[in-house]
Amino acid sequence: MLHLSHPPTTATLSSHHIDCALGSALSTDRSFALGFPMANNFPTASFSSSTALKQHTTCGASPESCNTSHRKHDLPIHGVSETIVGVLGGGQLGRMLCQAASQMAIKVIVLDPMENCPAGALSHCHVVGSYDDSVTVEEFAKRFSVLTVEIEHVNVATLEKLEQQGLDIQPKASTIRIIQDKYLQKVHFARHGIPLPKFMKIDDPESAKKAGDLFGYPLMIKRKRLAYDGRGNAVAKTEEEISSAVQTLGGYDHGLYVEQWAPFVKELAVIVARGRDKSILCYPVVETIHRENICHIVKAPANVPLKIKKLATDVAYKAVSSLEGAGVFAVELFLTEDGQILLNEVAPRPHNSGHHTIESCFTSQYEQHLRAILGLQLGDPSMKTQAAIMYNILGEDEVATNLTGLICYRLSCLQGEPGFLLAHQLIGRALGISGATVHWYDKPG
Ligand SMILES: Nc1ncnc2c1ncn2[C@@H]1O[C@H](COP(=O)(O)OP(=O)(O)O)[C@@H](O)[C@H]1O
Ligand SMILES: [Mg+2]
Repeated sequence: MLHLSHPPTTATLSSHHIDCALGSALSTDRSFALGFPMANNFPTASFSSSTALKQHTTCGASPESCNTSHRKHDLPIHGVSETIVGVLGGGQLGRMLCQAASQMAIKVIVLDPMENCPAGALSHCHVVGSYDDSVTVEEFAKRFSVLTVEIEHVNVATLEKLEQQGLDIQPKASTIRIIQDKYLQKVHFARHGIPLPKFMKIDDPESAKKAGDLFGYPLMIKRKRLAYDGRGNAVAKTEEEISSAVQTLGGYDHGLYVEQWAPFVKELAVIVARGRDKSILCYPVVETIHRENICHIVKAPANVPLKIKKLATDVAYKAVSSLEGAGVFAVELFLTEDGQILLNEVAPRPHNSGHHTIESCFTSQYEQHLRAILGLQLGDPSMKTQAAIMYNILGEDEVATNLTGLICYRLSCLQGEPGFLLAHQLIGRALGISGATVHWYDKPG
């Protein structure tokens, strides 16, 4: 059973003594101040209860060890152990980022509203708070010399403000702004000549009907914002189904648009890394198979002709070139029957389709993201194994046992649920497969 948990909620203020090893954090009934190490010239933070903010940290670092103020901007290789990276979001991607960071002695501090978020246990420090709340993001972000994201649904207006004040955010806030709104994303990529399914904004039943007349059925209706794992999509198979599909998405007021149905034969994805010097490296094209809109299987490399791989890589390269900032980006693509590649969407961060790179590539997408945002040389993205498969277990009773090579199992179940028992059975079977690696995110429901 899969539990997605990035609720961008603002927590309420709780007045209690906060023991923060990151700095010294004290709270009173009315306010608290966090003595975080400072980056550059930002003043010490102080929150008042009126901000309805609860922010506390869970970490084991000493205050001294977190001092970022002396970090050089032209980061030398020997400087990585002094480096602290701030990450908005503490999900499974953040967790794996922490794993890669620990290998290079880079400290990662995450901001996530969930006390027991997947990255919490592995991060240098976990600040409990909302990445959608401007005060929280501001107080968190300005403590680091480099800030990045593992989820795009963050308070981007605050990031833009901080960027203007000189904060180093990678990728750039402008990129996060474009990507967090799927419609804006489509407009941006269309302007840059990237092939994509036809699309148009819909505001009311008339414009939706017009879209149906223009694009035909089935019609893909999408929410512009806060969409993930298919939760912002609804399909209208006929004109009559438009209104129920729109209702599923919360109505026109939520901000909707439609896409022409992409008659794809395969879904492909390319992880693209871009350094601070704008150099770009692409990972091998993979095939993604979705089940109920959730990435279920990733086959690396994709079993498609070389010319399709080249075309997919070209589209991905061009798409990422049009965005600003460093990091890894995931480009989701459709392969149509007539050999066209259409862009579906881009994520400005590591991605589920790149989990396999941990075991199968010379440089994992996570290490690459850190290298990119810190201005280190990018690593070799090519595969060191002939093939790899990522199998995302969503609680079903099946597992392929005849696969060779790498298998990464992503499991996420609640103790006590039938899925939990099943997950353990599956782990047991996976452990018996030579070359298989189990990844357990420990994701709470
Ligand atoms: N225009 C489209 N035509 C056909 N299928 C689509 C279209 N857009 C999305 N899908 C299907 O829905 C899945 C989820 O859509 P996507 O927009 O990527 O949402 P999410 O942000 O939830 O990943 C895609 O991986 C694809 O299988
Ligand atoms: Mg998608």
